[in-house]
Amino acid sequence: MPDLEEVPQQGTKRYLPAPPGPPGYLLFKLPSLQKTPIEYLGTLHQEYGDLVRLPIMPGLTLYSAIHPDHAEHILSTYPNRYGKPDFFLKPMGLVQGQGLFTSEGDLWQKHRRLMQPAFQQKKLVYIHTVMLKCVQSLIREWEEKPEGAVIDIAAEMTRLTLQIVSLALFSVDISQESDALGKAFRTALAYVYFRLTSPLAVPVWLPTPRNLKFRQAKQTLNRIVLDIIQSRRYDRTEHYDLLSMLLTAQDAETQTGMSDRQLQDEVITLINAGHETMATALAWTWYILGTHPHILTRIEDEINTELGAEAPSFETLPQLEYTGRVFDESLRLYPPGIGLAPRMALERDELQGYAIPKGAIININSYFTSRHRQYWDDAEQFDPDRFLPDQVHRHKYAYLPFGAGPHVCIGKNFALMEAKTILAAIIQKFRISLVPNQPIEIDPRFTLRPKYGIKVTIHQKTDRYAATG
Ligand code: HEM
Repeated sequence: MPDLEEVPQQGTKRYLPAPPGPPGYLLFKLPSLQKTPIEYLGTLHQEYGDLVRLPIMPGLTLYSAIHPDHAEHILSTYPNRYGKPDFFLKPMGLVQGQGLFTSEGDLWQKHRRLMQPAFQQKKLVYIHTVMLKCVQSLIREWEEKPEGAVIDIAAEMTRLTLQIVSLALFSVDISQESDALGKAFRTALAYVYFRLTSPLAVPVWLPTPRNLKFRQAKQTLNRIVLDIIQSRRYDRTEHYDLLSMLLTAQDAETQTGMSDRQLQDEVITLINAGHETMATALAWTWYILGTHPHILTRIEDEINTELGAEAPSFETLPQLEYTGRVFDESLRLYPPGIGLAPRMALERDELQGYAIPKGAIININSYFTSRHRQYWDDAEQFDPDRFLPDQVHRHKYAYLPFGAGPHVCIGKNFALMEAKTILAAIIQKFRISLVPNQPIEIDPRFTLRPKYGIKVTIHQKTDRYAATG
């Protein structure tokens, strides 16, 4: 007899079963869930179906949801029935304050309205020039290396995307290891991960060595970002970066902009959200290209035909359709996250005939949605042509690399433009080959990064048009 929950609906009361799941509390299995979430959750979904109930300990039950209908229901149809839970918001908020990713309600809505215009496609022309400049400077560095040099392309993508997002935001490069802001970021994010995965961690105000190190890093972040914001308020020079748009943005309804403190939180959020996911997605794309030479050849053909010797410009990027589809498919099989931020049911609800009690924590684990056999033929096969315009007739929520609904990624256009620019500019100049027999494994902490990096050899192309040969 399944557990039954009472779900009131339009004046009537119905009793619905709880979603299926493993028996007993899983507190002692948490390490498996944290260390090998893909294997662990994958097995559970095979056994129990698309919605699995995971009782962790008394008072804490998680639900793993992987059906596109679940995502549609929670993210788009009834977004007001769900919010992000405190156990997620509090540790994330230690670094990002009340930025878009960690705020809710009126504040989130006002800031989303203020920031949205800065990310519209037509506003990204300046940002494209930043992207191109950064990737060209990386290319020049690589050109100095000996023929066939081995590099960790995952680490290189992190350096590059951090540089791009910081220059695009406020025209300051924070990518160098020695740079105080870059270092502070790494320390602060490592601490957030520690807190997210250690429910019994001592409060942040206690002066333990770990807490003190974090507090120092966060102070550095705040000070540097706030200094840039404040000096910009009085700067008469014209800037075209995102910060200048955010500084002047005014809410049409309330006629107010953002305070320095609010800008600080948003800037820190954008640096964080804007480089880690991007670097992870690109690292896996290089891995795919290394293991699928025929796909690399098709990209090279496209680049030769559409660009010739010209650098990828804002105007020519849309012509790189196949390159775009390769990145889309790479995000399907190797998304940077196993799922979206957790959502908490603010009221009792029903998902596909199952009861969702108030307070339930639901993880939309979109990694499995985008490999769901019901929605994807040969789901494990890498096939960019699934994203050809005449092929896209599947469930709209079967593909969620950027989320959906009101919280959909604000940087989606930025990200897609960045991916094409970087891939095209590098492939024009270099032949990239995977170093054979290296260990390739996913590190599931935060984003799904390659644990040991991705080692490749780089060879300069002497004749661009020989690329397809
Ligand atoms: C391949 C690259 C990227 C991927 C896969 C990605 C993915 C996502 C996803 C899945 C969400 C929604 C999370 C949820 O609903 O729980 C999100 C939100 C967000 N993303 Fe991205 N993102 C990428 C790049 C970027 C970039 C480049 C920026 C900014 C420059 C950015 C800024 C944000 C922000 C601020 C949010 C919060 C939006 C809100 O809640 O209103 N992202 N991203």
